[in-house]
Amino acid sequence: MPRFAGKRVLVTGAAGGLGGAFARAFHDAGAALVLADRDGDGLARFAKTLGDGIECHRYEQGDLASIAALAKAVGAIDVLINNAGILLVSPLMETDPQTMAEVIRINLIGPMVLTRHLGEVMAKRGSGVILNVSSQLAFCGAEGRSAYAAAKAGLAQFTRTAAVELAAKGVRVVAIAPGRLLTPMTTYLTGDPERYKAGIARVPAGRYGTPEEIAKLALFLASGDADYIVGETIIADGGYVLS
Ligand SMILES: NC(=O)c1ccc[n+]([C@@H]2O[C@H](COP(=O)([O-])OP(=O)(O)OC[C@H]3O[C@@H](n4cnc5c(N)ncnc54)[C@H](O)[C@@H]3O)[C@@H](O)[C@H]2O)c1
Repeated sequence: MPRFAGKRVLVTGAAGGLGGAFARAFHDAGAALVLADRDGDGLARFAKTLGDGIECHRYEQGDLASIAALAKAVGAIDVLINNAGILLVSPLMETDPQTMAEVIRINLIGPMVLTRHLGEVMAKRGSGVILNVSSQLAFCGAEGRSAYAAAKAGLAQFTRTAAVELAAKGVRVVAIAPGRLLTPMTTYLTGDPERYKAGIARVPAGRYGTPEEIAKLALFLASGDADYIVGETIIADGGYVLS
């Protein structure tokens, strides 16, 4: 029996690199997928690679009404993977306040609000897992990442606090903090050989991570094998934060 047979799993940002890997891994593990992204065409193209009839939703994570509409359309799910996000690389003094607010709105407020809506449905049913995608930058400083890192650190703290509130209702909230992965978000690395090499030199494991290995961690965290892991943000970064 596949591990996630009979489970409905919502992956946000599923048109992207990591979201696509999450979707594929849960699909292969027997889950019924519900995919969401603001890139409706990209999402439809990706869903086709998995097969016909996969439920897809276009939504905008920076817009509270759009998040509420997504939650209403989706209804009851077993696993929510709050993966959609944007990277901003911009020195603090050169970042305009509206851009800062947008990064916080999309990367932090959006997942909080989706958790609020779908967590409520899970709590009523007495079961569910919410998996937030934070970042290694929740745990260390980095040039030009102040808004992004603040949002991701906020998401790690939100994971702890929501987990404490929801655990007794049968809903487990956890997070993953990936190190640098090669996805469309990090084309600034693949397009610049010097920067690419310099980035690897800072990772004790000597390589960037892959979306597939983060997806394997998600499969574990969303499964019953991780039932006693509550509110943790698991770092998977090849040792970057420790070095
Ligand atoms: N790639 C990395 O190195 C890395 C490292 C740590 C954490 N992360 C996190 O992993 C997650 C996925 O990143 P990725 O590398 O796959 O990036 P990606 O750019 O490949 O994918 C992000 C997806 O999210 C969607 N999205 C972005 N903003 C949205 C919005 N406002 N509403 C709806 N959908 C939206 C995009 O359309 C895209 O499909 C992000 O939260 C990112 O911060 C990535």
